[in-house]
Amino acid sequence: MEMSRSPNGLVKLAIANNKGGVGKTTEAVFLGAFAGLQGLRVLLIDLDPQCNLSSMLITMDGGAAAIPPELDGVRYDSSALFENGDIDVYPTKLENVSLLPCKAENTYLEGLPASAIEQFAEYLQHPELAELFDLIIIDTPPAKGICSRAAVRAATDVLIPIIPEQKSLEGLYGMLDMVNQENQGSLIGVLPTKVDTRLAVHRKIIAESRELVGDDLLVEDLIKERPSIKTMDLLDAAPETPYGLKPSHDCRKEWEKMSVNVLQRVGLCR
Ligand SMILES: Nc1ncnc2c1ncn2[C@@H]1O[C@H](COP(=O)(O)OP(=O)(O)O)[C@@H](O)[C@H]1O
Ligand SMILES: [Mg+2]
Repeated sequence: MEMSRSPNGLVKLAIANNKGGVGKTTEAVFLGAFAGLQGLRVLLIDLDPQCNLSSMLITMDGGAAAIPPELDGVRYDSSALFENGDIDVYPTKLENVSLLPCKAENTYLEGLPASAIEQFAEYLQHPELAELFDLIIIDTPPAKGICSRAAVRAATDVLIPIIPEQKSLEGLYGMLDMVNQENQGSLIGVLPTKVDTRLAVHRKIIAESRELVGDDLLVEDLIKERPSIKTMDLLDAAPETPYGLKPSHDCRKEWEKMSVNVLQRVGLCR
């Protein structure tokens, strides 16, 4: 396994699904953490005003990011990407992982005109970002509004996490449509998470998802439902990750395998 910068330059991976609780934010943090540990320079962008990703990684203060002493005293957040404003990224405790946080009041972004989608995509083409980072991961809100569409439009690659529930499968049709509309050909995978492989109904829904998206797009290294993952995001700004577990731990092995799979799909791993 060899990690290197993608031959196509900066990889921008949008993690999207208008359904909540499918593991988008968990995937963003733990995939980012894995890539960082491999030496890739990672920027996580939080576009969800619920700020779950931000509060996993940095101290939040009344719905906005507390300003670390390293920064110049300005509260930068991901809304600047819709306005061509300045940004500065926040350091995190994860190796090689920086964050552009969201803030609670960014719900207003969903009211921006559709032109904001282009603005955002243009911003992410800034050459400086390509100099500073190898991988940008964009975490999106559970909606099909401006923020999620902007993330998909700006992305070089899109990943859709799903959970094995009938409703989730029904929603997947709509998500595939949205990704096709905003950025045809960008979908690199549909990743089942929170799976209990002992349950026939889970296996059935995954088989149906596979039929819907095709063998190539259904990520075979799926993520199981595990109590240890559930508790990892309980402590603010002190992310525990699966990679802190013993190397032989099934949970760690599963996340490493899935991460390598996804990094191969985006061209960062050979
Ligand atoms: N594999 C997993 N096993 C158990 N709990 C999980 C797993 N993945 C995510 N969770 C938990 O499910 C909840 C929703 O996950 P999250 O990543 O926030 O989803 P989303 O961002 O799509 O809303 C969180 O409490 C998270 O800790
Ligand atoms: Mg989330």
